[in-house]
Amino acid sequence: MWFFKKKPEYGFMDIGLTADVHSHILPGVDDGSPDVEESLAILARLHEAGVRRVALTPHVSRSMFPNQADDLQERLKAFLPELPDTLSDMSFHLASEYMVDEFFIDSHDRLAYPDGHLLIEMSYYERSRDIKEAVFNLLMDGFSPILAHPERYVFYQKVFDKRDGVSELRMLREMGCSLQLNVMSLTGAYGERSLGIVHWLLDEDMYSYIGTDVHSRHQIDRFEGFKVNAAQMDRVRALARNNETLFIPKQS
Ligand SMILES: [Fe+2]
Repeated sequence: MWFFKKKPEYGFMDIGLTADVHSHILPGVDDGSPDVEESLAILARLHEAGVRRVALTPHVSRSMFPNQADDLQERLKAFLPELPDTLSDMSFHLASEYMVDEFFIDSHDRLAYPDGHLLIEMSYYERSRDIKEAVFNLLMDGFSPILAHPERYVFYQKVFDKRDGVSELRMLREMGCSLQLNVMSLTGAYGERSLGIVHWLLDEDMYSYIGTDVHSRHQIDRFEGFKVNAAQMDRVRALARNNETLFIPKQS
């Protein structure tokens, strides 16, 4: 009798995520949760999955989401009393996801993680001209940059076959910019090319962190059927463990 081993299917619960480093849960500030009800529903799902620390990382970009740090702090202050007792063991840290646009380098708005890392992103369709300068300047200012979801940038996907895009990611990483994987990217939802980058970066051990980048409760339902092998899944779990380090305050 022949036995065919069923391929393991991994999902969100298999990651062991206790600390989420990337989320759009603060209500009404960007393209994430529109209201308190949705935010609480998202948090309930994350809590169920074992998440206890949450970094709130609203988009900050001059053209689309011109959020200011002090306004975001006020919004967090207004949101916290809405949390039910069932979520009382969750803790929150307000950071941001900064678009590296033409205004970023001269801006002084810097909401970082407790350990001094800072989340940056580019447009999915257009590489930021100043990305290397931004990384260099952040390092000079004492921040350690993290580039969000490198696997989602179309300009890297286009050149992936030639490895050109990946060589830039390697260079950014060597400069001191860490890379953060999105949970959804593990499902292949962003296409074969994106998944190809995920596999390659996992195999090369180039990611440092993993985040949900969650914008709605329904997104979490789609964190199933990860297209990764067992060795890659081990690396994903290691990223989840490493997330905790971002929440350890920097010693001055
Ligand atoms: Fe994001």
